[in-house]
Amino acid sequence: MVVSETDPLLVAGNVPVDVAIEWATDINVLCLHDLKHGANYADFCDGSVSPCPTDPCSISEANPNGSGSCLTNQALVQEKPVVCQVCHYSPALDLAQLGPLAGEPGTIPNGRNQVAHQSNSRVMHNHHGQFTDLFPPMDSPVQDGNGGISNQAVRLSQLEDTCYQCHPGTNVQCLRGAMFDGGMLCNDCHGDMQQVGADFTQGVSPQNPGAFKLGLGNYYDPANSDQPRVPWANEPGCGSCHTGDYFDNLAGGQNVITNIADSMGNDDDIRLRQSWRTGDPAAKPIVPTNTRFAENSIPASFDGTPNPGAGTSSAGADNPKLYRVSTGHGGVFCEGCHGATHAEFDSDAPSLNNHDVAAIQLQGHTGTIIECSTCHGNAMNNRNTLDGPHGMHPVGDNTEFADGGHEDLAEDDLQACQACHGPGDRESSQAVGTVLSVAKADRDFRDLEDGGLVSKGTPIGCRTCHD
Ligand code: HEC
Ligand code: HEC
Ligand code: HEC
Ligand code: HEC
Ligand code: HEC
Ligand code: HEC
Ligand code: HEC
Ligand code: HEC
Repeated sequence: MVVSETDPLLVAGNVPVDVAIEWATDINVLCLHDLKHGANYADFCDGSVSPCPTDPCSISEANPNGSGSCLTNQALVQEKPVVCQVCHYSPALDLAQLGPLAGEPGTIPNGRNQVAHQSNSRVMHNHHGQFTDLFPPMDSPVQDGNGGISNQAVRLSQLEDTCYQCHPGTNVQCLRGAMFDGGMLCNDCHGDMQQVGADFTQGVSPQNPGAFKLGLGNYYDPANSDQPRVPWANEPGCGSCHTGDYFDNLAGGQNVITNIADSMGNDDDIRLRQSWRTGDPAAKPIVPTNTRFAENSIPASFDGTPNPGAGTSSAGADNPKLYRVSTGHGGVFCEGCHGATHAEFDSDAPSLNNHDVAAIQLQGHTGTIIECSTCHGNAMNNRNTLDGPHGMHPVGDNTEFADGGHEDLAEDDLQACQACHGPGDRESSQAVGTVLSVAKADRDFRDLEDGGLVSKGTPIGCRTCHD
């Protein structure tokens, strides 16, 4: 079907042409799907019979709406909405987390027919990813050593031709946070189309119903290559790249991409810029051993049923939870201090001023919520502690901690400071700070020892004040 003057929506004359084109495109998708796969449609099939009983759809030029089983017929003749996930399972629409089901309307599966089909994520990503002339391979970053990515223009155009064909998008900028500013794109965290599509439903078909690859071992175990991913449940984490601190991190290890310098040009060598190991066809997220900046672990008591903890042990125990459900300092959600996935504070793009409103209202400047006063009022101004978020101390130029209150902590356990501030002590010329100790706002240390003005984004070392 093509848009023409016979298009009923255009004839009705009350929708913009773009809407009519989108509608016609939807119908084209259904026609093509019927034409290619209609002969293979299965009747409600719970996997107990193999191959599944057929419920074929036939469609042709002479019968453009097809027979009753055809998706085109359902949309245009029966005027029923076509929901792809009825046949192609999606965990996102399976709120009770029952897994793929099949059965008549009125029964628990309520008309779903998912046991004989690959998941929606897999058909979308794996199938389309095969056509590399349409959806090109996505390149890894090439770092120039000063914090720039020399092939970023090529990577952005590949993004346009792949993920942004379906996900929002260049105009809406759903991907706009701290990592986007640092030059990271979808594939650096999720892998490319076929890696996203490498899920547990590969091999399932009406001829092979129920052949889900589950229970084959721990997906996150790097030594176990057998268990494919589960869409929506197995996603990368902050901890996959922020793999630790100055003393203990995965940078420089095998098959990882180490961030050489941050976008301000500061030496990094602590953080990774790809969340999975190069060469891994499944793009499994790296799970760090140093969890200072990582998501929470799933407790053994969580058994995944509506009544967790009933004496059973979770098969997923110790695996990372999703970012969006993880909590950090004081039980505050990670998102409470960092913002939502894909839109982590802060964003550099001037066109995205709204992005930073929450952070500015809370603490007076953009970026991660770091000012203790946001939640503690003045209570931290005279406290000398490393019990803040991720082991932080009170911050700012007006605290007792900055005014020498750190003496005892630094003398008792210098390594606790070096984890973020890097090598050296107050007498060492090495003590220039790391990317984990950059000032998150302009600071004025002129009243503190040999300190001066420090602008946002500059690493703070002991040398900053003990010159
Ligand atoms: C009535 C069940 C049903 C519905 C509804 C359905 N599909 Fe399918 N789909 C199938 C079957 C059957 C196949 C062929 C799979 C096979 O033979 O293993 C298929 C295959 C596909 C494939 C190709 C997968 C491959 O690897 O070859 C894509 C892509 C796809 N469907 C997308 C969609 C989209 C998009 C929608 C919603 C507009 C949708 N499907 C709705 C049953 C369905
Ligand atoms: C052809 C359209 C299409 C393209 C291209 C596409 N996606 Fe998707 N994506 C979808 C659809 C549709 C869903 C919802 C799947 C569902 O219903 O579960 C989805 C869901 C997802 C999800 C969540 C489900 C999961 O598997 O965890 C991720 C992550 C994702 N896409 C990443 C990507 C990335 C990364 C790219 C580019 C490499 C990409 N997508 C390209 C259509 C697409
Ligand atoms: C810096 C890493 C990173 C980048 C870059 C990234 N993602 Fe994600 N994405 C994540 C994380 C982490 C999650 C899991 C979020 C959660 O906890 O729910 C996720 C989840 C998703 C989901 C599932 C829905 C959700 O929000 O949970 C989709 C869809 C998705 N990403 C698509 C994309 C697309 C498309 C791109 C590129 C435009 C992209 N992502 C770029 C890290 C990233
Ligand atoms: C693909 C690897 C990767 C993932 C996944 C990732 N990051 Fe990052 N992140 C980096 C790198 C590399 C930088 C340094 C960026 C630069 O060069 O400026 C960074 C920078 C940051 C910064 C500092 C930004 C600033 O302006 O000071 C914050 C905060 C941050 N990440 C938080 C997160 C959070 C929260 C998550 C999880 C939702 C996350 N990151 C996931 C790699 C990653
Ligand atoms: C109370 C606020 C708060 C909460 C809650 C919080 N963080 Fe942070 N986070 C911070 C601050 C402040 C920093 C800056 C520390 C630094 O630069 O050394 C930071 C830094 C980070 C970084 C980036 C480190 C870098 O390389 O610049 C990551 C990643 C991160 N946090 C992840 C998380 C995750 C995951 C959670 C939840 C499990 C979480 N945070 C909860 C305040 C918070
Ligand atoms: C987003 C809000 C938030 C921010 C920002 C925040 N905290 Fe907290 N903090 C909490 C909450 C909530 C608790 C738990 C209070 C309780 O259990 O009664 C807590 C508890 C504490 C405690 C233990 C309780 C106490 O009073 O001794 C310390 C120490 C602490 N925070 C230090 C810090 C430091 C240092 C910073 C700044 C680097 C900071 N916090 C930033 C919310 C925050
Ligand atoms: C979790 C990471 C982390 C640890 C551990 C840490 N620092 Fe910091 N430090 C930072 C960050 C980030 C800043 C910059 C904060 C800002 O100004 O925005 C900073 C800044 C400072 C400042 C300047 C005051 C200020 O708020 O900017 C002093 C002084 C300091 N650190 C001393 C220490 C000493 C001494 C230790 C050990 C007892 C230590 N730090 C441990 C991350 C850390
Ligand atoms: C923001 C400025 C600032 C930074 C950064 C800073 N200090 Fe200090 N430090 C001070 C001030 C001010 C004093 C108090 C000096 C006095 O009482 O005469 C002090 C005192 C000390 C003392 C007590 C001995 C002395 O020289 O008076 C030690 C030990 C110390 N700092 C260690 C460190 C270490 C280790 C770091 C780096 C992790 C560090 N400081 C970073 C400002 C700073």
